[in-house]
Amino acid sequence: MQNTREKTIKNLLICGAGNGMHTVIPVVLGRLDYRLRIYTPFEEEASRLKSQFETKGGIRLNGILSGEPCAPDFVTTDPSKAARDADMVLMVLPAFAHGSVMRDLAPHLKNDVIVGAMPARSGLEYQICSILEDSGLTGFTVFGLQTLPWACRIQEFGASVEVLGVKEAVGLASIPREQSSFLAPFFTELLDLPIFPMNNMLELSLANVGQIIHPGIMYGLFRNYSGKPFSDSSIPLFYNGVTEEIANVLEALSDEIMKLKKMLQSLLDESVSFDHVLPVKKWLLDSYADKIENDSTLSSAFKTNRAYCGLKAPVRKLENNAYIPDFQSRYLTEDVPTGLVVTAGLARLVNVKTPVIDQVVSEVSRWMGKDYLSEGTLGGENIEETRVPQNFGIHNYFELRAFISR
Ligand code: NAI
Repeated sequence: MQNTREKTIKNLLICGAGNGMHTVIPVVLGRLDYRLRIYTPFEEEASRLKSQFETKGGIRLNGILSGEPCAPDFVTTDPSKAARDADMVLMVLPAFAHGSVMRDLAPHLKNDVIVGAMPARSGLEYQICSILEDSGLTGFTVFGLQTLPWACRIQEFGASVEVLGVKEAVGLASIPREQSSFLAPFFTELLDLPIFPMNNMLELSLANVGQIIHPGIMYGLFRNYSGKPFSDSSIPLFYNGVTEEIANVLEALSDEIMKLKKMLQSLLDESVSFDHVLPVKKWLLDSYADKIENDSTLSSAFKTNRAYCGLKAPVRKLENNAYIPDFQSRYLTEDVPTGLVVTAGLARLVNVKTPVIDQVVSEVSRWMGKDYLSEGTLGGENIEETRVPQNFGIHNYFELRAFISR
């Protein structure tokens, strides 16, 4: 793998056809001159996009961003056409789709391609490096962004998207590590908002605060669930519903991650830092300082955060306007196998005990119909679907250290 590279990026491949893709296309093409193509493995999505682009001329930004309709050069379901001459691949997908999409594309990518995801979630680096290496690539860069910079919703598929919010700044980390100092300014220009370099991709994984908040609140809200459906008005509030008891769970999850951070910091080279891995309360107060009315406790900070006002727990609608908790929600399907379980795997590499993480993972994965942890080990039958480093040949601290210093 090359250590440093500043290359010209002309051909950009975006993977995905959802809210995020609908926002990236007009944000980039409304201001900059890139050759940009879209890959989706789904024929139905691709043909709808093509016909919409022909009739509507492209995707228009609405809401707090605006601009003329913009369309990419082409949309394809053919991985070899999508990957041909691509300098950079940006996956704007739920994390559970990263692996399959990258396996489609990898045989057709060039050796020095730059591949990343927005958002990365946890453990992206082990999975993507492994897939690219299996295809014989040696000169690639892998990167991840902390989050999608926009809260956005498709208004009309292939024609318009509403942007409801824009993050003030988003972190980016890469392998090789030093490439983030080239990629962060590149993305700052590309996305028209501040993207700052993070120290390393392990920091990005551990700083994924969604792994604490989403499974932690789901666990707290539903661990004593009776099975009785909710009416429309009795669906629990999600963030604003964080009781003292749920806040204790979140704090315990966060404490275990901070212990892991401390251990990693003491073992790894001092140039490897984890400054963006924050306790959950500090993260909440830093992110929403001006929106929180009462910050005296973690529970009161969640309950009085205006940014979260009225957001309800994920539910599935039954007949007769009855609702049950949705245990296939992304709060679990992304934040457990590509979040909390990755942290549990990392902790095992450096002998940090994670009893609360293990408890939350065991309980919510049972609701999801998955089995990740078995009697405190990574022996559950679905562990191979996760991004624990152990799935990608990293079985001890020395192998982790070698991976980070690539
Ligand atoms: P979306 O649900 O709108 O888009 C999903 C797209 O992913 C689909 O159009 C499809 O092309 C693709 N996809 C889904 N399953 C797939 C599979 N198994 N294989 C291949 N492709 C598959 O998602 P959205 O909203 O664009 O979100 C992308 C990521 O950003 C997710 O991780 C989401 O959690 C995150 N995010 C989204 C926010 C938003 O406001 N939309 C805000 C913050 C984060």
